[in-house]
Amino acid sequence: MSTDVMSVDVMNTESNTPVFSVDGLWKVFGPKADRIPADPELSSLTPAELRTRTGCTAAVRDVSFDVRKGEVFVVMGLSGSGKSTLVRCLTRLIEPTAGTIAIDGEDVRAMDKSRLRELRRHRAAMVFQHFGLLPHRTVLDNVAYGLEIQGMGKAERRRRAAEVVAKVGLEGMEQRKPAQLSGGQRQRVGLARALAVDPQVLLFDEPFSALDPLIRRDMQEEVVRLHREEGRTMVFITHDLSEALKLGDRIALMRDGQVVQLGTPEEIVGSPADDYVREFVRDVPREQVMTVRTAMRAGDCGGIEHPGALAADAVVAEAIKVVARSRKAACVVENGRCLGVVDHERLLDVVAGTELRKEAV
Ligand SMILES: Nc1ncnc2c1ncn2[C@@H]1O[C@H](COP(=O)(O)OP(=O)(O)OP(=O)(O)O)[C@@H](O)[C@H]1O
Ligand SMILES: [Mg+2]
Repeated sequence: MSTDVMSVDVMNTESNTPVFSVDGLWKVFGPKADRIPADPELSSLTPAELRTRTGCTAAVRDVSFDVRKGEVFVVMGLSGSGKSTLVRCLTRLIEPTAGTIAIDGEDVRAMDKSRLRELRRHRAAMVFQHFGLLPHRTVLDNVAYGLEIQGMGKAERRRRAAEVVAKVGLEGMEQRKPAQLSGGQRQRVGLARALAVDPQVLLFDEPFSALDPLIRRDMQEEVVRLHREEGRTMVFITHDLSEALKLGDRIALMRDGQVVQLGTPEEIVGSPADDYVREFVRDVPREQVMTVRTAMRAGDCGGIEHPGALAADAVVAEAIKVVARSRKAACVVENGRCLGVVDHERLLDVVAGTELRKEAV
């Protein structure tokens, strides 16, 4: 039995190794930026005070987080909150002012030029909002570009590029030029180009914000599908809350360079850390985010026949349909075991946000 426990431990440790590990990260723009993180008086000033006193902007202020293997990690916040600066610091497209960054345990700030190049080309590929395609090259050659830089032979890179082009749904368009594509198709090329180098992690800086809503939804579904099929780690910047909730396994919500809350969509919507977050998520339809695991009355149903069975991570909106149809409570099931029961009262409490108050009584 002890070996079983050990092997489970080893597996957990492996799958829990963060891809990125960020600790105490600062990026300050302006004169003598280096002194600010180290100076307790200056570093505790509000952004406006700091600007008046020193002429500096602290775009990222003392941020720490891990990006876990296989997750979609969303960085969300209003314009100017520091999202792009933070994500660019991860591969030192912007030089951090202070703090540590590791990828797979390797110190990114200690990397020399060639190691950094390798990091950006092979390990952490970026997808930008404005595609950055080469206008005179075909779709296929744009996708193959990163492989060409890597020194892969022509036949091999064309084969690989064709595979990825098909994967993002652009089959048949290989020979077109970017100008002959719609915005959504161009972004698919951008995505394919990043995927072609088979990076360990994909970094997206608001890739879909220039797309119209229907195409944007298509692309979001594409990301969800790629993630589900390949389990690739992704860091995704957005200022759009519904996009964040849809894509994120976890969300870091930024304000003025700081992370004000880091949690699952359910944690952020269900237990906002402060008034700012509460205001931010106020209009989110809770039934589409909260799960039946939160809504249920915990405990085995004791073998009572419940016509409905729901997975523990099903959202409340799904449960409402099941309960409404059967007019009976439903079991919440995980690994074939009943974890608890949801009835209409429980579900309505979650929709209304009154379940927490009840728990507290
Ligand atoms: N090169 C720079 N020099 C000085 N200040 C900068 C520089 N780049 C960014 N900033 C400032 O840092 C802050 C964070 O900018 P950043 O671009 O990271 O925000 P963002 O959250 O990505 O915003 P958006 O949603 O508009 O893209 C802003 O106040 C911005 O003006
Ligand atoms: Mg930005």
